[in-house]
Amino acid sequence: MQIGIVGGTGAMGRGFALRWCKRHSILIGSRDAARASASAAEYDRAALEAFGDRHTITGASNEEVAAQSDVLVLSIPYENIDAVCGALLPLVSESCIVISPIVPMEKTSVGFEFVPFRDSKKSAHASVAAHMKDPSKLVSAFHVISEKKLADLSSLLSYDILVCGDDSGAVDSVCSLVEEIEGLRALRLGGGSLAYMAEVATPLMLNAMIRNKLKSPGIKIA
Ligand SMILES: NC(=O)c1ccc[n+]([C@@H]2O[C@H](COP(=O)([O-])OP(=O)(O)OC[C@H]3O[C@@H](n4cnc5c(N)ncnc54)[C@H](OP(=O)(O)O)[C@@H]3O)[C@@H](O)[C@H]2O)c1
Repeated sequence: MQIGIVGGTGAMGRGFALRWCKRHSILIGSRDAARASASAAEYDRAALEAFGDRHTITGASNEEVAAQSDVLVLSIPYENIDAVCGALLPLVSESCIVISPIVPMEKTSVGFEFVPFRDSKKSAHASVAAHMKDPSKLVSAFHVISEKKLADLSSLLSYDILVCGDDSGAVDSVCSLVEEIEGLRALRLGGGSLAYMAEVATPLMLNAMIRNKLKSPGIKIA
């Protein structure tokens, strides 16, 4: 499978690339194709060091990545959804599954706030869905795993990932991708209209982390 990561030069992009490159071709996307290629080469070196063999991690412009991917991860900030998705989502294939790990969150004087509740704005899922040719191919997941844990191949993960989407086939595919990462369990939460609950789990977790001096929290439902 060809997995493209828009904004793949960022913190989460590195983790997705390293965790999935053993089984899939990874396309790192950026607004700047040269930056994408440089990040891809760096991830490739890290994968070679960790796994001892070569993988397919390449870089390209976000536009090329969107057009070529079977699964497209939108690893970009909430504030940029409209500009990025408006330009890229018309380019994806009809069967492409789009993953949103996007958390609409801001750190303020009171702690981490959930922007849609505070400012009466749309969830990240709803904002992305507005640009999808087929919104049922949008699946929200990976909000509650930190980039540090995801990118650190030596860390033993034991977390749940909340998954929301309207197409059961697309949700199943994303759950499989979650569980390819050792130590992660995919938990289906419901349709896309409930994705805000997965998104709000991140500020919830981070506020608990700060107030209670927790280290590297994650979510595990017992
Ligand atoms: N960090 C975490 O621990 C974590 C955990 C769970 C979920 N998330 C969510 O996952 C997403 C990615 O997180 P991240 O920490 O990897 O983010 P990030 O490092 O801040 O940004 C990711 C990439 O987005 C691109 N980008 C930045 N500004 C942009 C703009 N104005 N327009 C278009 N692209 C822009 C950049 O790529 P180029 O400059 O190369 O184009 C950047 O490398 C976010 O929505 C975040 O809420 C993060």
